[in-house]
Amino acid sequence: MVSFAHIPVLVKETIQALAVQLGGRYVDCTLGGGGHAVAILEHSSPGGQLLGIDADPQAIKVAEAKLQTYRDSTLLINDNFVNLQAICIRYDFYPVHGILFDLGLSSIQLDSNRGFSFQHDAPLDMRLSPSQEITAADIVNTSSEAELAHIIATYGEEAHSHQIARRIVQERPMETTRQLVQAIEQAVGGRKGRIHPATKTFQALRIAVNHELDHLETALKQAINLLGFAGRLVVISYNSLEDRIVKQLMQRESKDCICPPETLTCVCGHTACLRLINKKVITPSPIEVRLNPRSRSAKLRAAERIIVQDDPFSMAEKLSSLVGRETSGWRRPAMLKKLRMAFLLP
Ligand SMILES: C[S@@+](CC[C@H](N)C(=O)[O-])C[C@H]1O[C@@H](n2cnc3c(N)ncnc32)[C@H](O)[C@@H]1O
Repeated sequence: MVSFAHIPVLVKETIQALAVQLGGRYVDCTLGGGGHAVAILEHSSPGGQLLGIDADPQAIKVAEAKLQTYRDSTLLINDNFVNLQAICIRYDFYPVHGILFDLGLSSIQLDSNRGFSFQHDAPLDMRLSPSQEITAADIVNTSSEAELAHIIATYGEEAHSHQIARRIVQERPMETTRQLVQAIEQAVGGRKGRIHPATKTFQALRIAVNHELDHLETALKQAINLLGFAGRLVVISYNSLEDRIVKQLMQRESKDCICPPETLTCVCGHTACLRLINKKVITPSPIEVRLNPRSRSAKLRAAERIIVQDDPFSMAEKLSSLVGRETSGWRRPAMLKKLRMAFLLP
């Protein structure tokens, strides 16, 4: 068994924001070491149920061991949360009382030899799941200088993206984190302050390898539909790009009109389906940060579902999900199209 020392972040605040209740049904989209999952089950038992998802098979193993006591109340799925809706439909696990996203990486991943950290030498991998095809080394070694600069600027918000990209192209091929760190240091110099100069480039590559921002946005939209009335959506993010997506989506879905401000009469027809729980973002206390420095950048946002459709999912989506289970090689969008046509759905 792998050793695991991930300290869950903002646990009390998460349980409060989820308004965890006895017998409730919850989805933890980022199971990790199962720290939040245990807390949810403790507060919802007896009768509570938890569906836990993680893209990393190693995380599922660790969480399985941690959640032994609650094995009859848990269902753990090794998948990407971009498939949240299909997973919940497949296991008939909706509507739910609450959905949690605790984004980013667990300590087991940061401390592993999978290339997520610039602090120790490891292969340039950075995939959440070994089933993904593209590694960080693939991106570093095959992207053009302009593409690399774009990735580093967009996903790392790195001001020196062009210098770093130029140096990477000069130094490649590279296979290890140490080679990448050296190239970055040659481009912009070594550590000057608290933040290492490789921090932003590593973040950028990880986001690109795992399509983190696209998957987050897709999954959040799916999550809203899975919540029952007064169900809670809670998201803990660790960088400003993630937090922006969460904030904008929650704000938009908590407004009845999203027309541009200069519009005199509403033409959007948008209806609010969420209510913001905390108008101001929740962050860890100084004591939590001292005890767990990795919590320092955490930001928690929460919202409550206020309007629900009777059944948000079409028959075609349900069938597609069921058939998808039997014919795992089929591509779902193609299947969905066929089913839509078969059932003459728009
Ligand atoms: C910060 S950790 C979660 C820690 C967990 N809350 C705990 O208490 O132990 C984030 C986890 O989310 C997983 N993860 C990140 N993005 C994911 C995605 N798109 N789909 C599924 N899991 C994802 C990572 O593999 C990691 O295990």
